[in-house]
Parts: sequence; structure tokens; C-alpha cells
Amino acid sequence: MGALPWLLLLSLLREAKGGSGDGADPEEVVAALQESISLPLEIPSDEEVEDIIIWSSHFRLATVVPAKEGHLAAITVTDPRYEGRVSFLGPSYSLHISNLSWEDSGTYQAQVNLRSSRIPSIVQQYNLRIYRRLSEPSIAVSFETSGDGPCNVSLTCSVAQAGLDVTYSWLSRENAVDTAHEGSVLSTSWRPGDKALSYTCRASNPVSNRSSSLIPARPFCTDLRYPSDKASASFCLLTKALLLLLLLVTLAVGL
Ligand SMILES: *[C@@H]1O[C@H](CO)[C@@H](O)[C@H](O)[C@H]1NC(C)=O
Ligand SMILES: *[C@@H]1O[C@H](CO)[C@@H](O)[C@H](O)[C@H]1NC(C)=O
Ligand SMILES: *[C@@H]1O[C@H](CO)[C@@H](O)[C@H](O)[C@H]1NC(C)=O
Repeated sequence: MGALPWLLLLSLLREAKGGSGDGADPEEVVAALQESISLPLEIPSDEEVEDIIIWSSHFRLATVVPAKEGHLAAITVTDPRYEGRVSFLGPSYSLHISNLSWEDSGTYQAQVNLRSSRIPSIVQQYNLRIYRRLSEPSIAVSFETSGDGPCNVSLTCSVAQAGLDVTYSWLSRENAVDTAHEGSVLSTSWRPGDKALSYTCRASNPVSNRSSSLIPARPFCTDLRYPSDKASASFCLLTKALLLLLLLVTLAVGL
């Protein structure tokens, strides 16, 4: 009683229904950590269900014997990792798992055994991926100015504990037109007299998206350029003095 005959039957069934030939592809499902998910089960309404057996990875998770006249549905959760966290919803007994943990990710399979002799059973497979909801992105700024040239600003966006499949984009708005730039680093330059643009970083993963507050690029340049002239001049002098000292020391050691 291997899985192969069932899969063969399933693909025959799919083909008969005019679906794509690749009936064995699991359904991709994503969910957020510590939240809940339903794995939708589709049972033809004219079929009478004997029982439903749910597997997670290689372990039998639960068995459901549907309600019949005078009898309640009998649900047996066989995998202790899911005890108290699973329920079966609706007329088709879709599996509902709450308080998801990282360990819940992976493959699930529902085998619906039917009473009809024409189709003895239906198999549905799912691949569950779990992601953390993103926290607000934080921004690191670096900038370079020199003389009369433009002030070059580089903004780097990141999210703590981001995990997999995170994408970053930068949005700026000028004359009511949004411009998007894909990637976590935005490099731009600003000259005195240029319009002051503001930027927002948006981070997304399959279960959430978050935006940073607006970051105006100009203050990083203007606040530092003029007051810093004196500071950088004295810094320059200090560097020269240190170099001279180093040279003298090198010479003295060399002698
Ligand atoms: C959810 O599961 C975690 C362990 O994975 C547990 O510490 C926490 O108490 C659970 N929360 C609820 C509401 O059951
Ligand atoms: C800013 O970038 C331009 C070209 O992208 C470069 O020519 C210039 O030297 C840079 N300025 C500074 C201060 O790094
Ligand atoms: C971002 O998340 C909100 C809910 O927080 C959702 O309504 C919106 O469609 C999402 N946008 C994108 C581009 O994913």
C-alpha cells in the first residue's frame, strides 16, 4: 500500500479534470511565526469521507473521522508536538495550526479516504514556510563631502533578525512622482541648491512589509559642510603633524 498508486490516481484525476499534468506539486503556503495557518482541504461535495489522515513530514499528525448522524467527529492528534494547537475547520476539515514555531515548517500531506469505490482516496500536499514578521527597518548613513564637489550620501537599510527572503527598496518622492530603487543601499549625491529629496526604505518578506520613517538626505550634507570646515582644517593640521613626527621617529630609528 505504497504512496505511488495514490499519486498515480491523483495525477490521473487531475488530468481528467483538465488540470496541468504535474499533479504531485505540493501547494506552497507561507505563514508568520507564532501566528496560525489553515491548510485548505478540498473534498468533492458529493463524496462520502471515510476518514482523513494528516502527515507532517514523516509523522502521522492526526486522524479525523467525520461526523455522522448522531455521532460527533472523532479527532485523534497523534503527534504530541501539535497537541492543543490543531483544529479542523469547516465542512471539509481543513487543518488549522496555531502558535506556529520554526519546527512546523516543511511538508504536510492530507490523505482523504473516500467510501466510493471509483476514487478510493485523494492526496493533497503542502509545503509550509514560516517567516518572522519584520520589525521596522533601521538606516545607516554615510556621506562624503569635499570642496565644491557634490556631497555623496549612502543610505543602508537593514532589519534586525530579518531571516530569509527579505527584499529592500528605497522610495523617493519628487513632484508627486515616486521613484523606486531596488536593493538595500541607496547612493545619491546632493549639491547646494538641489531640491531636498526624502527617502523611505521598505523591507518586505512573504508575510509582511515595513517602511522606515522619511530620511531627508540634505541635512547630512548641510549640517556638516560649513561648520566642519574649520574642524577638518585643524584635523588636517594634526594629521600632518603626526606624519612629520612619524617620519622623524623612523629617521631616528634608522640612524
Ligand atoms: C506558543 O509556543 C511557545 C513555544 O513555541 C510557547 O512558549 C508559548 O507559550 C505559546 N503561546 C501560546 C499562546 O500558546
Ligand atoms: C562623489 O561621487 C562622484 C561620482 O559619483 C565623484 O566624482 C566624487 O569624487 C565623489 N565625492 C566625494 C567627496 O567622494
Ligand atoms: C504591506 O503590508 C500591508 C499590511 O500590513 C498590506 O496591506 C500591503 O498589501 C502590503 N504591501 C505590499 C507591497 O506587500
